[in-house]
Amino acid sequence: MMKKILIYLSMEKHASPFDLIEAYDAVDDLVVVPYAGVETNDVAGLINDTIFPRHPKDLVNTAVFIGGHDVVKGDEMMEKAVKQMFDPFRISIVADTDGSNTTATGTVVKVKEAVEKKGESLKGKKAIVFAGTGPVGLRIAALLVKEGAKVAVTSRKMDGAKAAVEKVKQVYNADIKAYEVRSDEDTTKVIGEFKPNIIITTGPPSVTLVKREIWGKYGFVEVLADVNAYPPYGIEGVDANDNIKDVGGKLGIGALRIGSVKNDVQKKIVRKLFEKQGAVIRLEDIYAAAFK
Ligand SMILES: NC(=O)c1ccc[n+]([C@@H]2O[C@H](COP(=O)([O-])OP(=O)(O)OC[C@H]3O[C@@H](n4cnc5c(N)ncnc54)[C@H](OP(=O)(O)O)[C@@H]3O)[C@@H](O)[C@H]2O)c1
Repeated sequence: MMKKILIYLSMEKHASPFDLIEAYDAVDDLVVVPYAGVETNDVAGLINDTIFPRHPKDLVNTAVFIGGHDVVKGDEMMEKAVKQMFDPFRISIVADTDGSNTTATGTVVKVKEAVEKKGESLKGKKAIVFAGTGPVGLRIAALLVKEGAKVAVTSRKMDGAKAAVEKVKQVYNADIKAYEVRSDEDTTKVIGEFKPNIIITTGPPSVTLVKREIWGKYGFVEVLADVNAYPPYGIEGVDANDNIKDVGGKLGIGALRIGSVKNDVQKKIVRKLFEKQGAVIRLEDIYAAAFK
């Protein structure tokens, strides 16, 4: 049988062992060929050398995964690669730079599970993403809007928050609200004003963004979810291992529980790459794959 080959492209000095191990564990007998230090301008040549060796009818067995940390560059590389392909020389491709698509998926899957555990749905719920201007936060916002929630993101600078709103609108066709939050007083004020049922934090490691005394004040807050796996965690009182756990009357979801869904989803999308020739797998496809 023809070998399945995954070409792994990364702009980093080293190809990520995390992504390579996930790929090997996803598909039996897979061959992963890692390329590190790839620049956007290298992509066209690498894609040419990937699409032409095999007969088009066999190209379902060849795919590309773009990894690394630079999300902007990763998106550019993805677009360059897709542009370089043409019928019938198409291969499946996905980008998950900094784990942003799979982590956002893992977060929204767990939040949806928590809401449904209460016999409710995400439709019409209000969700706020603190420090939501990074790649993970913006994708969470977009997925929540697609689920029918009303969404706000916060930034330490109003300009940053507005730019985030614009990006989510342009790239994901979703409307969100922006707030500036620089202190505990701002956090209290914004929660009081927006009245979120769901609080999510997507800040950097070891930064607590929402204190217990703040979220504990509000009866309308039902779910607390945090992606930061390094203590102190993003939401005080929510442990990294909490799996839709009762925390002071709210349902708490910790970073490691989100991470475990993220890892499963990453394997699912590697398998998906080899199901159909020429699939361009984007955020919404990754989210949909989580439920299959
Ligand atoms: N659980 C998992 O499986 C998993 C997987 C991947 C990543 N992660 C975690 O997900 C989190 C988000 O990742 P990301 O790449 O989207 O993050 P990021 O871009 O590094 O940071 C997100 C936002 O945090 C804000 N920020 C930075 N420093 C801050 C500070 N000291 N205080 C308050 N806000 C600050 C910034 O917004 P402004 O400048 O606009 O304020 C930034 O846009 C990280 O903690 C990462 O480790 C978790």
